[in-house]
Amino acid sequence: MPKSALVIGATGLIGSHLLEELLENELYEKVVVIGRRSTGVRHPKLVEHIFDLSEMDRHAELFRADSFFCCMGTTIAKAGSRDDFREIDYKIPVKAAILTKQNGGSSAYLVSSIGASASSRVFYLRVKGETEDAMAEVGFQRTLVFRPAGLLGKRNEFRLKEKIGIGAMNLLSPLMVGPLRKNRPIKAECVASVMANLPSENIKGKRIYESDEIQQLYNSMNAKEG
Ligand SMILES: NC(=O)c1ccc[n+]([C@@H]2O[C@H](COP(=O)([O-])OP(=O)(O)OC[C@H]3O[C@@H](n4cnc5c(N)ncnc54)[C@H](OP(=O)(O)O)[C@@H]3O)[C@@H](O)[C@H]2O)c1
Repeated sequence: MPKSALVIGATGLIGSHLLEELLENELYEKVVVIGRRSTGVRHPKLVEHIFDLSEMDRHAELFRADSFFCCMGTTIAKAGSRDDFREIDYKIPVKAAILTKQNGGSSAYLVSSIGASASSRVFYLRVKGETEDAMAEVGFQRTLVFRPAGLLGKRNEFRLKEKIGIGAMNLLSPLMVGPLRKNRPIKAECVASVMANLPSENIKGKRIYESDEIQQLYNSMNAKEG
């Protein structure tokens, strides 16, 4: 049965690939994007709503879709403070999920991060873990959590620390085998493709996909197609 999707963070690296995938995917007949600026994409299936997401209560009725996709996030440096980081990476995603569930949504797809854990000593990873936990508690039939390692892809902005970190990981990638494999950098488009195309009807409750599993799923989905 055709479904509807709602995406927040659709102007980002993963989000823009995800939007393309969802628009191409016949399973989705409508794709709603909510953000603070336009994606610039025009498509008959696409409906865009632009407003400040800190005021989403005033637009609660727009958070309506079968599947909720969150590709939103920032960095502590870009947010400017830990509180502002938490607002963007925790409060807004969880609130948007709650509104979508209240309006009848059944599935949530969350981009989190490798190492996310509510008990992490690292603030960034702790917030990511708390978001995972809170989203699973919203009560969707299924909550799919994707934990990519460093993302590969073309960004409009320059992030020096991230570039150095991912560059180093990329060099070490062939040495990362066994349990270390999940640390290998992954293309943003692979993450997006798996999120949009993974059959999920049989999944109940919370399911976490580590980065190496996302890569394997992508490889097998594309091997089948080829
Ligand atoms: N970068 C990595 O290597 C890496 C690794 C693992 C996990 N992750 C996680 O993966 C997710 C996606 O990452 P990405 O690199 O694709 O993200 P990105 O390119 O930085 O895009 C972030 C998205 O969030 C939106 N956003 C940020 N602050 C907002 C605000 N205050 N109000 C409304 N929208 C806001 C951005 O909108 P605008 O375009 O309007 O700014 C954009 O659509 C994030 O949660 C990130 O933490 C990243």
